[in-house]
Amino acid sequence: MENTPFSLRPATPEDLVRVTQIEAAVHIAPWSSENFSAEMSKPYSHFLVLTDDETDSEIVGYIVFWTMFDEGQILNIVVDLPYRGLGLAKFMIRKTVQLVYQKGIKKIVLDVRKSNLPAIQLYQRLQFVITSIRKGFYSNGEDAYQMLLSMTDDPFRF
Ligand SMILES: CC(C)(COP(=O)(O)OP(=O)(O)OC[C@H]1O[C@@H](n2cnc3c(N)ncnc32)[C@H](O)[C@@H]1OP(=O)(O)O)[C@@H](O)C(=O)NCCC(=O)NCCS
Repeated sequence: MENTPFSLRPATPEDLVRVTQIEAAVHIAPWSSENFSAEMSKPYSHFLVLTDDETDSEIVGYIVFWTMFDEGQILNIVVDLPYRGLGLAKFMIRKTVQLVYQKGIKKIVLDVRKSNLPAIQLYQRLQFVITSIRKGFYSNGEDAYQMLLSMTDDPFRF
C-alpha cells in the first residue's frame, strides 16, 4: 500500500480509550490502558497509532516497539478487523524498520505465539526468520517463536 490514506503518528493520552477497545477485541491477553500509558513514558519506547489522513481521528491500528542499545523489539502490532488484508501491518512494520535503521540499529527481534499464523506469515513476508522457540512463554502456557530481522544492507528493500 504505497499511497496509503493512513499515517503513523505518536500516540497521545486521548488515543488510549480507542486503542484499548481495539486491543481488548483482538488479543487473548490484552494490554490494559495502564500498560499502554506506561509505554508513553519510557524513553526507549515508541507507541505509534495509524490514523486516517483526512481527519486524523480514526485509529485503525497501532504498533509499539522499543529501541534499546543495538536492538529494536516489536512488542505489539494490531490492525483493527475491518482494515485487515489491506497491507496496513506491512506498512507499519516497514516504517518501523526505517525508524529503527535511522537510529543506527541493524536488528529487530520479536516474540509471537506459535498459533498466530497470520502474524508469523506477516513477519516472514518481511524477511524476519524464526531463531528459537520459547517454551511456555505466554500466561496460557503457549510457546513463542522468537523472530529476528537482520538489516545487513538497505532497510528500504522490502
Ligand atoms: C497480524 C495482523 C497485524 C496483520 O495485519 P494486516 O494489516 O491484515 O496484514 P497485511 O494486510 O499488512 O498483510 C501482510 C502480510 O501478512 C500475512 N497475512 C496477513 N493476514 C494473514 C492471514 N489472515 N493469513 C495468512 N497470512 C496473513 C501475509 O503474508 C500478508 O502478505 P501479502 O499481503 O503479501 O499476502 C492482524 O491480523 C492483527 O491485528 N492481528 C491481531 C493482533 C496480532 O496478532 N498481532 C501480532 C502479534 S502482537
